[in-house]
Amino acid sequence: MIRTAIKGIGSALPARIMTNADMAKIVDTSDEWIVERTGIKARHIAGEGETTRTLAVAAAQKALIHANMTASQIDLIIVATSTPDNTFPATATMVQADLGITKGAAFDVQAVCSGFVFALTTADALLKAGQFKTALVIGSETFSRILDWTDRGTCVLFGDGAGACVLEAIEGTGSNEDTGILATKIHSDGRYHNKLYVDGGPSTTQSVGLLRMEGREVFRHAVGNISSVMEEVTALAGIKPTDVDWIVPHQANRRILEGTAKKLGLDESRIVITLDKHGNTSAASIPLAFDEAVRDGRIKRGQLVLIESMGGGFTWGAALLRY
Ligand code: UT7
Repeated sequence: MIRTAIKGIGSALPARIMTNADMAKIVDTSDEWIVERTGIKARHIAGEGETTRTLAVAAAQKALIHANMTASQIDLIIVATSTPDNTFPATATMVQADLGITKGAAFDVQAVCSGFVFALTTADALLKAGQFKTALVIGSETFSRILDWTDRGTCVLFGDGAGACVLEAIEGTGSNEDTGILATKIHSDGRYHNKLYVDGGPSTTQSVGLLRMEGREVFRHAVGNISSVMEEVTALAGIKPTDVDWIVPHQANRRILEGTAKKLGLDESRIVITLDKHGNTSAASIPLAFDEAVRDGRIKRGQLVLIESMGGGFTWGAALLRY
């Protein structure tokens, strides 16, 4: 059977770093509150000329080098983002042009913080169906541009960045020993679409709008949804979350990660955490964390990795893969 293997990974962050102390100069907050409630210490903020598109291209180029492949070998590009450069066309088409690719297809996937898991699931299905042989799946966001910088309940949480994976369809046996994606599961429950949203859009206000969130409500659902989808996706492969080598979660709040670890009996040392440095970068957070753990030698070839996320919609999902 066809398996979708991760051939290379890369990431990109804006140059400017904003610490919690910098935040305290803008809104009524403190390093102590932000660290205690979220675990975040700093985040990168896009500067002039840095956009979702430029960050996506930078991450994609690093992933191509890591994969030892050229852009001309890519035939599918999916960008997971909720902060596209323009309402349309898809940021993925701009990335395609910047990389000099003229074949295949490029489109965006919008599932907010779950975007990367949704995009990876989509690419896996298309590669397995034989439509494409290779893909770039990119999570890229500039949430700093949709934040209400007067709302301390949200502006301290988010940051900008991008992460990218080069995927290739390879032959597998169908067993858990295969390299590549072994199982994926995605969910949505639109009853909660107004718990984390942007208060504008082309068809309503003809503007972009700003991020609004009922943080406590999102938090209340997060641990339960994340734990259940992690159990669901590992069960598809006949294993348990405790059987994996690494968990690379969406980075929203350290307390959510601790709560999920406790619920599933996971050793916290096996969870890759980057939210202290990056904040919540929405669809970019998983590939950013994955890339860091590959480059510092934690995640090794052949190891089992479980990624998971929960975000606006609500949307949530997980994927199990052998790196
Ligand atoms: O990636 C998408 C998914 N998003 C998430 O997973 C986010 C989930 N939610 C959360 O992470 C948490 O709910 C937050 C970090 C957003 C908030 O933490 P909380 O413990 O739920 O705090 P809260 O909203 O209940 O607020 C507690 C207090 C309030 O003051 P009062 O009403 O008790 O006097 C807030 O006004 O903390 C206050 N507060 C702040 N204080 C200092 C809220 N934001 C801040 C702040 N600095 N930045």
